Amino acid sequence: MSNDLGFIHRFEPGNRLEAPPLLLLHGTGGDENDLLPLGQAIAPGSALLSVRGKVLEHGMPRFFRRLAEGVFDENDVRRRANELADFVADARKRYDLTAPIALGYSNGANIAAAMLLLRPQVLAGAILLRAMVPLAQPPKPDLARKPVMITSGQRDPIIPASNAAELAGQLTDAGANVQHSVLPTGHELSQMDLALAKEWMKTALLPEAVPSSE
Ligand code: MLT
Repeated sequence: MSNDLGFIHRFEPGNRLEAPPLLLLHGTGGDENDLLPLGQAIAPGSALLSVRGKVLEHGMPRFFRRLAEGVFDENDVRRRANELADFVADARKRYDLTAPIALGYSNGANIAAAMLLLRPQVLAGAILLRAMVPLAQPPKPDLARKPVMITSGQRDPIIPASNAAELAGQLTDAGANVQHSVLPTGHELSQMDLALAKEWMKTALLPEAVPSSE
């Protein structure tokens, strides 16, 4: 565990140089340890950079402030997405990494979506598990066929199906290559998320599928 570069994080070096690194972003109340097993299962051999969100909600780490469940402090979303993007750029230099694919769950998926919209060069792609629209008036970046996978839960009490579909539409309109699957689950993750993400990584790993980034 390291507390430099501005964020508490863990870095696990990979052993397959051609595999893109993953940026792991936990859900509300999680930390930098949570998604390491999922990252290893989805992308064996990839380097893993796992970050702890800096915002505390009743002691629970998050990546940005919210006013209520599903109601975001959008100024904070913008500030924190930029701060995290700067961290990723610094961490790439420190650990000698290519642009990572974000793997985010819930609040972590939402900050990853905000980074795609605000700082698209920072990520090579993203796996967004239970994501929703992070910004009411998003910019329209050029996502240049970046691969993005979204999974939603049909019975998710936090994220209405229409909201996840709107995010998929925003990213598609901005040029991303989006695969959106609605699963017969709630907000919690399922084996289906894991199976889909593993399958998706096989194509995201193809050199022509991952645009080179800054
Ligand atoms: C969020 O705050 O990002 C979403 O409501 C998901 C959550 O973290 O519960």
